[in-house]
Amino acid sequence: MLDAKVYTESVPFSIADIGDRQDPTRVLLCSPDHFDIVDEKNVHMAGNVGLTNKKLVQQQWEGLRTVYDKLKQQGVLDEVSVIPGAAGCEDMVFCANQTLPYQKAGGEEVVVMSKMRHESRQREVPHFESFFAAKGFKPVHLQKANLFEGMGDVIPHPQKKLLYGGYGHRTGLEAYHELAAMLDTPIVALQLVSPKFYHLDTCFVPLSSKSVMLCRSAFSNKGFQMIEQLFEKVHQVPEDEAVKYFSLNAHAFIAHGRKVAILQKGSTKTLEILKDEGYAVTELDTSEFMKSGGSVFCMKMMY
Ligand code: ARG
Repeated sequence: MLDAKVYTESVPFSIADIGDRQDPTRVLLCSPDHFDIVDEKNVHMAGNVGLTNKKLVQQQWEGLRTVYDKLKQQGVLDEVSVIPGAAGCEDMVFCANQTLPYQKAGGEEVVVMSKMRHESRQREVPHFESFFAAKGFKPVHLQKANLFEGMGDVIPHPQKKLLYGGYGHRTGLEAYHELAAMLDTPIVALQLVSPKFYHLDTCFVPLSSKSVMLCRSAFSNKGFQMIEQLFEKVHQVPEDEAVKYFSLNAHAFIAHGRKVAILQKGSTKTLEILKDEGYAVTELDTSEFMKSGGSVFCMKMMY
């Protein structure tokens, strides 16, 4: 087994050296009851304060929920749960950010609680701690690190016990040293160098154990080299498409042997890559949420 270390410069191993892992099959959503844009937490929110259309917010979110409910009916997902949004938590609908649920070797299920950068978002975290505790997950807290935004920045290598961790905007590199030890899992730490790609889930979508799609300008040279070493195929999506349509915030996953992707409508290259990789793609509109800097991937949690 590979050391549960953080790799920042180079990866002295290949995917064949990594143990297998079962990908999750349950989805959690958070209803947008109190969704709003009250400040500018990321560059995509600039000029959008107060500009949400409540009716459209509800409609678009119901559209997303319907897609997941159908996947459950088709046997692709095992469970779809919804946690209600809380008053004063305007970004809570982005439920990829407050936690990192993880099944450790041996089967123990833990959930690492985030340390959100923004005060209003810190208030969201206990709601998710209660949800996962009720599901039997053991909540664990980072001791030293003070910036960590859960699955906004941590993305697993499909079917492998290896994590990728973005840092530089919402998560600090220190968090990964604690996390690797806590989860007993190696982490490839990727510096995010552009404010447009402030979470790893805005620019990096693993598609299989062998392939990934990403936006090159989000990564440092060293980070990109590590990705190229670990994936046989690296598909590049043009920056304008990744920014305009949040296309690299697609939710592409493999569950019960099926490849499924949910994607903001409008992209061309991203759609083509997903289809070439054998994904059944559903396109929908998340424009109200894109005004806040997020789309499909960050509006759900898989565990
Ligand atoms: N307005 C939210 C924020 O800035 C958006 C979060 C989107 N989440 C994501 N994982 N990209 O925190």
